[in-house]
Amino acid sequence: MAKTSHISGFYKLPLNERLKIIKELAGLTSEEVNLLKKEGALKLEQADRMIENVIGTVGLPLGIATNFLINDKDYLIPMAIEEPSVVAAASNAAKMAREKGGFTASSSEPLMIGQVQLVDVKNTTKAKTDIIARKDEVIKLANEQDPVLVNIGGGAKDIEVKVLETPAGPMLVVHLIVDVRDAMGANAVNTMCEAVSPLLERITGGKARLRIISNLAALRLVRAEAVFQKEVLGGEEIVDGIIQAYSLAAADPYRCATHNKGIMNGVIAVAHATGNDTRALESGAHSFAAMKGKYQPLTTWKKTKEGDLLGRIELPAAVGIIGGATASNPTAKVCLKILGVKSACELGEVMACVGLANNLAAMRAIVAEGIQRGHLRLHARNMAIMAGAQGELIDLVAERMVKEKKVRFDRAVEILKELKKGS
Ligand code: MEV
Repeated sequence: MAKTSHISGFYKLPLNERLKIIKELAGLTSEEVNLLKKEGALKLEQADRMIENVIGTVGLPLGIATNFLINDKDYLIPMAIEEPSVVAAASNAAKMAREKGGFTASSSEPLMIGQVQLVDVKNTTKAKTDIIARKDEVIKLANEQDPVLVNIGGGAKDIEVKVLETPAGPMLVVHLIVDVRDAMGANAVNTMCEAVSPLLERITGGKARLRIISNLAALRLVRAEAVFQKEVLGGEEIVDGIIQAYSLAAADPYRCATHNKGIMNGVIAVAHATGNDTRALESGAHSFAAMKGKYQPLTTWKKTKEGDLLGRIELPAAVGIIGGATASNPTAKVCLKILGVKSACELGEVMACVGLANNLAAMRAIVAEGIQRGHLRLHARNMAIMAGAQGELIDLVAERMVKEKKVRFDRAVEILKELKKGS
């Protein structure tokens, strides 16, 4: 079978059939498929090693977003999320993007920032100059903490020094800029910050307090864009409606929060599936969105000369494909294999595309038909299943309820009875 993500009718297949397709396309072993099939794949002993006071694990549905073509490569994208419609919306938007060649994505180097706060510094201006003069020494000391990272091309690369006026008086903040390669980077960066603090104290005569990574990963950015053909979106009015929806987000923080939430639906679902730190991503995204002094959308949308819709996204992506839960959670490992990404940067690029796709799909749904209709369909399917429908009867029962605008358990039972009698 050719490696493609364009699998028509994937959502209509029974779960086992879907798994069979993914196994074949992603080259999964039978053990890996069995792991996906298993309820509670994260064993209690594994969970007990991950956090403290463990008493169990919680599960999330894991779906595959189809149709993603990114930089001319097909991706099957695992998404773990409790919210209905998000996986379908991403797949749908990705299908629309394919008409114009899919997504183009890029990323900066995987540079994270570690902060060392220096207080009680007598002469902050002189201290700043002194630190910069001994920059090579600071970087060398930082790099001695992680020779493995340095060997693969990563490590501390630069420093920045800021003098800040704060409610607690003037202080210095040193930024240690570290290339973390394929890790999320918090461990490496925190270790380095702690290691260089005594040296910074000696240079400045101050006291090092906070020595910790910044989650505003403003140097580790991912970008993506795609063009959506107006005909595929549903015509000029929909394109104009989406531009108006985006414009409201650009002008109003109340809408902007929801706009960005829709983007993070996709980003975080991929992060959950791949065992990444979702809080780091959220805080990075929202602080980046506010970086210019006003909370702004993470995407921009405009009309092309042809009247199509061009969407762009830019956000920090502090994600890893090694270490942390990406290594200790067996399902996350299988998800990374399904994705087939070769680097953390590539994973970030995929997340950016999914975020852009979810943003487009949400705005289009709200502008065209209201968000509830999509949700209603899934809700109706769930009701049909709860009423005992199987196979094609699920969709028949669900469609009838949606048409009648009566999505209720009792109605599902009635319709199912009628359909069974008629067959
Ligand atoms: C719901 O999870 C996300 C949306 O509210 C996003 C949006 O309004 O753009 C649908």
